[in-house]
Amino acid sequence: MSIFRLAHLSDPHLPPPKGALGWRDLLSKRLLSRIAWRRKRDEHRPEILATLVADLKAYAPDHVAITGDLTNFASPVELEAARLWLEALGPARDITVSPGNHDALVDAGGPPFVPWTPWLGDHGEASFPQVRIRDGVAIFNLCSATPTALHLATGRLGADQLSRLDARLADPAWCDLFRVVLIHHPPVAGAVSARKALEDQDDLRAVLARRGADLVLHGHAHEALVATAPGPDGRMIPVLGVPSASAQGHGRHPAARWHGIEIDRRADGEIVVKVVARGLDPTSGQAMELGRYVLSQAGRPAQRP
Ligand SMILES: [Fe+2]
Ligand SMILES: [Fe+2]
Repeated sequence: MSIFRLAHLSDPHLPPPKGALGWRDLLSKRLLSRIAWRRKRDEHRPEILATLVADLKAYAPDHVAITGDLTNFASPVELEAARLWLEALGPARDITVSPGNHDALVDAGGPPFVPWTPWLGDHGEASFPQVRIRDGVAIFNLCSATPTALHLATGRLGADQLSRLDARLADPAWCDLFRVVLIHHPPVAGAVSARKALEDQDDLRAVLARRGADLVLHGHAHEALVATAPGPDGRMIPVLGVPSASAQGHGRHPAARWHGIEIDRRADGEIVVKVVARGLDPTSGQAMELGRYVLSQAGRPAQRP
């Protein structure tokens, strides 16, 4: 049996190109974010992101999951720069992007990340959830990014998206696959402050408890978080968060990191999931292995009932 290698990277916060903001932005949330960015631009460094991307490419993953915040203000110039960065990263069919709150900062009359459509899913539209099937793995891509009031970084899935997710997780065509859910905001209580939380996280956890999933990956917290969400019949679903892929680690968050997730389907039907954490060595400036662990799949029966 084969091992599916899924790389998880998040919150690159690509540096804003010159002219990222225009005069129309002066009265919008983008201006406040620009001021906040000036304070923290030393934390997110493009050369660190380049080091981690080179390390990730050397790992030769089967698929890359990016859980949002590619930009800072979701301005058209930034969205185009992020699109070019995604193009350089690899083929769109091998990369899935779940947008973050910074990618939908202001109400643009529609999702501003439409230019990223090839990386959102296989359906050629910026709608959610989308399901991508890759070699025994089903990737359910959600979008919790939504414009918010000033000083808020909350997320919301909405009743329609949750209803569609419920139906797709229940689809028998995908139930026997290894089901990975991607979302920017952590779907667990207490992972971030209320100002940054997923507003309808209770509703998402109810869907997961009813329909199940094998793994949830998120960003947004800029922390390495390991949690669980209840699944059906008392089984627990692992929930993993990865720090920003561009962080120096000089602030309150850790230095840049990405995770290699190895989904090993054995001949007897057992699935073993290993996580390899790789990230920045602040001393050398190089990428290095930070540790590895096996995720308990005790909650997943070898043969689904
Ligand atoms: Fe972020
Ligand atoms: Fe975020």
